[in-house]
Amino acid sequence: VSRIALSDYEADAAARLPAAAHAYIAGGAADELRLAANVAAWRARELLPRVLRPAGERDPSVEVLGRRWAHPVAVAPTAFQRMAHPEGEREMARGAERALAPMCIPTLATTAPVDVIAAAPQGEYWFQLYVLRDRGRTWELINQARESGCTALVVTVDLPVMGVRGRERRHPATAPADVPSLAGRVSGPATPERLTQEIDPNLSWEDIARFASDGGLPVLVKGILSPLDAQLAIEHGAAGIIVSNHGGRQLDTAIATARALPPIVEAAGDRLEVLIDGGIRRGTDVAKALALGARAVLVGRPALWGLAADGADGVAQVLELILDEFDRALALLGVPRARDLDATVMAP
Ligand SMILES: Cc1cc2nc3c(=O)[nH]c(=O)nc-3n(C[C@H](O)[C@H](O)[C@H](O)COP(=O)(O)O)c2cc1C
Repeated sequence: VSRIALSDYEADAAARLPAAAHAYIAGGAADELRLAANVAAWRARELLPRVLRPAGERDPSVEVLGRRWAHPVAVAPTAFQRMAHPEGEREMARGAERALAPMCIPTLATTAPVDVIAAAPQGEYWFQLYVLRDRGRTWELINQARESGCTALVVTVDLPVMGVRGRERRHPATAPADVPSLAGRVSGPATPERLTQEIDPNLSWEDIARFASDGGLPVLVKGILSPLDAQLAIEHGAAGIIVSNHGGRQLDTAIATARALPPIVEAAGDRLEVLIDGGIRRGTDVAKALALGARAVLVGRPALWGLAADGADGVAQVLELILDEFDRALALLGVPRARDLDATVMAP
């Protein structure tokens, strides 16, 4: 019983990881204000529970992109998972599979998607795309993801350049293993900074429209904070968006995701599925996200803490912990079905 909250895994991961890996995972942009702000914004929202509504049987399932998920918590794409554990993405996949959580495999994975999926073939997988300057290679990655069995394409749009990463500069890391997506493309030390220079800073909405029409997978645009961009995502054929500030790693002082969500949900209406990440650390945070109109949430660092602390077991435990909290929140809110969460349980 030594680990009873996600923060216990955070401490455990910090104690185990080499300084550079810890700096890469824990760090945020510039003064790291967003990192704390994402967490604080969820905590600041108050719940308005209902009583005397029978809650003996609860159903955490939700529907995302036409597919039934056992619950609303997925694993966010995080680069270089072998920094956290020697088996990296494979162990992450095994843990996610055990907890019935979909996993978003990153472009900057240290394991190819096909090998990630082979490690835990019952799981549900999405592919996170960084659009490379080399569009030929970009399309190869999309096609590989689809052929490997990924069911959606998550196009990350908030990294035309890397944010100002102070902690990473103080504790420089080299990538711990090859990145198959970029095999043969980078000579010299494959640092995160160097690898991200392969990403196209001139990405535009026209590209999103092409991926949506020709990629053969539903497209989710990751990194949306403005309702105006949610509107553009609809116009350019996206199936959904992920409200995200990249875990506070890109533009410091950008709006906290919990505060960005409500106007985006309003702009999206029922034409766009809205997911969210950033600072989700408790079951009540998951409940709030759904009550405010998100279909599902993603967790980034908590999954990495679990991975660093205990491989697949740690990943599964972190997810099961937050899901147990979410289940209790459903009962305590008097809303036994996750799909019924709405703004009536949010304090004004
Ligand atoms: C170490 C690390 C690496 C990340 N790498 C990527 C990436 O390669 N692609 C991406 O779209 N987002 C990446 N992210 C952002 C996450 O997908 C997610 O938006 C963020 O971690 C959510 O915030 P949280 O860590 O507070 O849960 C990364 C985040 C972390 C912490």
